Amino acid sequence: MARRKYVVGNWKMNGLTAALGEAQAIFDAAKAHPAVDVALCPPFTLIGPMLAAAPGAAVGGQDCHSAASGAYTGSVAAAMLADIGATLVIVGHSERREGFAESDADVKAKAEAALAAGLSVILCVGEPREVRESGGAIDYVLAQVAGSLPADFDASRLAIAYEPIWAIGTGLVPTADDVAAMHGAIRAKLGDLADSDAAGTMRLLYGGSVNAENAAELLGAGDVDGALVGGASLTAGKFVPIIVAAS
Ligand code: G3P
Repeated sequence: MARRKYVVGNWKMNGLTAALGEAQAIFDAAKAHPAVDVALCPPFTLIGPMLAAAPGAAVGGQDCHSAASGAYTGSVAAAMLADIGATLVIVGHSERREGFAESDADVKAKAEAALAAGLSVILCVGEPREVRESGGAIDYVLAQVAGSLPADFDASRLAIAYEPIWAIGTGLVPTADDVAAMHGAIRAKLGDLADSDAAGTMRLLYGGSVNAENAAELLGAGDVDGALVGGASLTAGKFVPIIVAAS
């Protein structure tokens, strides 16, 4: 079965209630492109309001804790996200891996908790600049995939987002050939770690400075099933053209 395109906006720590109109405009525009799955991951504070503004939309979190509940001040459990209507969560973003010292094992535990709570998961991987420059990017990322992949998973509810750290928020992007090579290597690795059905089903997203101008080329690269978009997902004016490019 062909993999549906998947375009996800990660609002990071951006967005007050005044931004809900942008989300509404994005989800309204997305209705004209039914072949593309569109989701937004705003800060936790906006998940409920965004769902109220756009009922039935795919809205998710940017992180979750691996525990079901407990003394973890400031954290949110996967079941709490599901409880308010979120349907997905991002785990292992490089800003969490680097800024909050999250290991592959932490990311794996979060992904497993999220899947158990019924959420879909976008599991992020990606190499720092020095690793890319040394020629070790594929080995580095495949090790992250092996270390972060949940023990059991339904491949239709798990996507991997390849986000080279040096491309995030910088305006720099890898060539389409480099993206295709990385995604092809990830898909081959999934075949080894899981099975060929899972490898064929799982969607692989590219993230890092995706915008209206480069989206068509990046989304057209081999084994790219969608995009995880930061800055350009904050407004309909910038995000909708990326959805159009995916359709
Ligand atoms: O998760 C999305 C992200 O890290 C990419 O951010 O702003 O480069 O599109 P940006």
